Amino acid sequence: MAGGLEVEKPSVEEQVRKLKLSGHVGFDSLPDQLVSKSVQNGFVFNIMCIGETGLGKSTLMDSLFNTNFESSPSPHSLPNVKLKAHTYELQESHVRLKLTIVDTVGYGDQINKEDSFKSVVDYIDNQFENFLQEELKIKRALTSYNDNRIHVCLYFICPTGHGLKSIDLVCMKKLDQKVNIIPIIAKADTISKAELQKFKVKIVEELKNNDVNIYEFPIDDESVSEVNSTMNTHIPFAVVGSTDFMRVGNKMVRARQYPWGTVQVENESHCDFVKLREMLIRTNMEDMREKTHCLHYELYRKRRLEQMGFSDVDADNKPVSFQQTFEAKRTNHLQELQQKEDEMRQMFVVRVKEKEAELKDAEKELHLKFDKLKKDHQDEKKKIDEQRKKMEDDIIEFNRRKSQHSQMTSNSHHTLTLGIGKYLHFSKE
Ligand code: GTP
Ligand code: MG
Repeated sequence: MAGGLEVEKPSVEEQVRKLKLSGHVGFDSLPDQLVSKSVQNGFVFNIMCIGETGLGKSTLMDSLFNTNFESSPSPHSLPNVKLKAHTYELQESHVRLKLTIVDTVGYGDQINKEDSFKSVVDYIDNQFENFLQEELKIKRALTSYNDNRIHVCLYFICPTGHGLKSIDLVCMKKLDQKVNIIPIIAKADTISKAELQKFKVKIVEELKNNDVNIYEFPIDDESVSEVNSTMNTHIPFAVVGSTDFMRVGNKMVRARQYPWGTVQVENESHCDFVKLREMLIRTNMEDMREKTHCLHYELYRKRRLEQMGFSDVDADNKPVSFQQTFEAKRTNHLQELQQKEDEMRQMFVVRVKEKEAELKDAEKELHLKFDKLKKDHQDEKKKIDEQRKKMEDDIIEFNRRKSQHSQMTSNSHHTLTLGIGKYLHFSKE
C-alpha cells in the first residue's frame, strides 16, 4: 500500500484463541439445524440420460426410482437431436426430491452423427447460463430459483461388445468438463458374462486413451471411501432395467423373463443395477450436486466472466477488483465513444470541405461558360453590326447611284427633245 501503514499480520493460531466452555451452550445443534432446513427446503436433482433411441433409458429410470414415469417411446426419424425434460416431485419418508429427467430424443439416429452432441452441450450450457444470469441480477432469488443444472449424465453405451462408438467418445469428451458423467452399459442382459468383462476393460481403456474424464466416486470422506473406491473399479456399470415384476420368495422383484431363464434387476450376480442405484442415489447424490456447483458451474462462470472481460488480475498480474475492472471498462468504453465521435466529426469536416471544393469548381466552370457565351455573343453582335454597317453603306451607295442614274436619264431626254424640235423646224422650212 503506497504510503500506508505496514501491519504485520498475526498467524492464524495467534489470531484465534482456543477457549473452553464451562457448560453447554447449544451451537452443537448447528448440524441438526442444517439438516432440518435442508429437509424443509427439499432437494433438487437433475439427471440427463444420453443414449440411442430404445436403449432402455426410460425403463432404467423407472427401475432406479421404483416408480412409473409414464414416458412414451421416441420417434426414430428426427432430423436432429432434441432434449426433453420432465420434472417430478418425489417423497421418501419426509424427504422431498424434485427430480428432473432430461432425455435425448433421436440421439444417434441421424446419418451424419457429427453434431449429435451439440444440442446436449447447448442444453447443459444454457442451464449454467440461466443460473449465472440469476446470480448477476441485482435482486437475486437463488433460494427459490428453479435450478435446472444437470447434476449427472448417465451415458448409455450400446451392448455391442466391440468397444465404444466414435459418437460416444466425441460426446463424452465434449461433456467431461461440464457435467459428471457415469457411463453405463445398457441392456447388459444381451451380452454374455465373459464378453461383458472384456467389454468393460475395453471401454475403460478407450476412455483413458482419449482422455475422457468420467465422474469418480469421491474417496475423501472416510465413511464412504472404501465402498466408493471399490465401486470406481466397477465402472462402467452393466445394467438391466425392467417394468415387469415376478415373485421371488415372498417378494415381488423387477425382472426380465426369457424362455431360458430370468434376469433379476436387483440381483447383483445378474447385473450392476444395485451398484448404480447405491452410488447414484444413496451415497453420492450430494457429492454430484456439490461438484456440479463448485466444479463444473464454477468453470463455466469463470470462462464466461473472462469472456465478458473480467479477471481477478490485471495485465501485470496484480489483483484487480470487479469494480476496478468495471470502471476501467467503462472509461475505455467512453474513450472509444469519444474517439468515434471525433473521427465522425473529422470525417464530417472533410466531407464538407470536399463538397465546398466541388461546389467552387462547379461555380468556376459556370463562370467560364458564362464568359465564353458573353464573348461569343459580343463577337456575334460585332459581326452583325459590321454587316449592318456594310448594308447601310451599300444602301447609301445604291441610292447615290440611283439618283445619279436618274439624272443622267433626264439629261438625255432633254437632248433628245431638242434634237427632235430642230429636226421638225428644218423640215418645215
Ligand atoms: P426412447 O425413449 O424411445 O429413446 O427409448 P428408451 O431408451 O427410453 O428405451 P425404453 O426404456 O423405452 O426401452 C425400449 C425397449 O427396450 C423396451 O421394449 C424395453 O422393454 C427394452 N428394455 C429396456 N431395458 C432393457 C434391458 O435392460 N434389457 C433388455 N433386453 N431390454 C430392455
Ligand atoms: Mg424413453
